[in-house]
Amino acid sequence: MEKQVKLMNQYVADLAVLNVKFHNLHWNVVGERFLPVHQYLEELYDMLFGTYDEVAERLKMLGAFPLASLKSYLEATAVEELDNRDYQISETYQIVQEELQKLRHLAKSIRVVADDADDFGTVAMLEDQIGEYDKQLWFIEQALK
Ligand SMILES: [Fe+2]
Repeated sequence: MEKQVKLMNQYVADLAVLNVKFHNLHWNVVGERFLPVHQYLEELYDMLFGTYDEVAERLKMLGAFPLASLKSYLEATAVEELDNRDYQISETYQIVQEELQKLRHLAKSIRVVADDADDFGTVAMLEDQIGEYDKQLWFIEQALK
């Protein structure tokens, strides 16, 4: 359980920092197709914000404390933040793609540990989240063609 809690807290921290990072891209993306990409990024950070709360509440159900301060997020996260500058659309999609692939990978790792512990509630939650990452990764792949 200790390993699972640590991984889930890293997930919480990554989701929290990505909320800021995707806002950065939402604000600073530039290019001819600005508006749909700007709007898509809002959908993405809304989705991740929901996931952030869902994972934190799952930790509470498991009797653990979710990380709950910006300081602890910066200590725990693997996400690297972005400079404040213009971002071209293809670069924006590539950054988002890489981050969603990493989230998917982390969710999958936690799923393995939770499955070993017969923690079906966490497994089910993660499987739904992984399905959502797959859908978003498909959207981005199509956009990058
Ligand atoms: Fe906005």
